[in-house]
Amino acid sequence: MSVAIAIDGPAGAGKSTIAKLAASTLGFIYVDTGALYRAIGLSAIRRGYTKEHTEQIVAMLDLITVELSFNADHEQIVLLNGEDVTGLIRTPEISMMASAVSAIPAVRAYLLELQRSIARTNNVIMDGRDIGTVVLPDAQLKIFLTASPECRARRRYDELVEKGMDVVFDDVLRDVVDRDYADSHRAIAPLKPAEGAILVDTSGETLDQSVQKLLKIMREHL
Ligand code: DC
Repeated sequence: MSVAIAIDGPAGAGKSTIAKLAASTLGFIYVDTGALYRAIGLSAIRRGYTKEHTEQIVAMLDLITVELSFNADHEQIVLLNGEDVTGLIRTPEISMMASAVSAIPAVRAYLLELQRSIARTNNVIMDGRDIGTVVLPDAQLKIFLTASPECRARRRYDELVEKGMDVVFDDVLRDVVDRDYADSHRAIAPLKPAEGAILVDTSGETLDQSVQKLLKIMREHL
């Protein structure tokens, strides 16, 4: 039987970086489910839709394909209609659109089986917002990873600056706070710790400290 570790938490808590490193140490596949919502957000933006175009976005789901594949280094590749969009989905504009499309029940339903099927056939660390609550409620270990909004905004800001993007810290902080609110107040699958989840706060920690903390929890519980 395959093993699943669910990691949920707000944007910028370091889930992806920490989970990726932990997965490579454990020999698990790391699955970033936010990328799926981002691919749908990208598709909507390409069609000129805004977050108000709910009906059009739902209709669009019948016209597109979203898939995940993993390269030789076990890195996740996101395919939108067969096109590798992995490098195109990390902009602030797509972050906001991903959050908007993720509140549409049909979008969540569309992505559910894809996420479950990956976990059925692989040992996974899967990160998202509803992995422990909805996608993999039977995961052997559930972790809710968080950090203060300022700390998360600082990390995201540094990441974007490193990619050469022209961003203002206060804008990034506002996006983090707005997205937290939207993700945790939506009617369907809102962001919240799953029952039995272990709460981990990474505020003020270095990446290495957080990874070690998480690995310790994983080794103790698996
Ligand atoms: O983790 P991320 O920032 O790449 O996620 C982008 C958006 O997708 C986020 O605002 C909320 C949504 N999301 C979700 O609703 N459920 C998930 N399992 C993963 C992401």
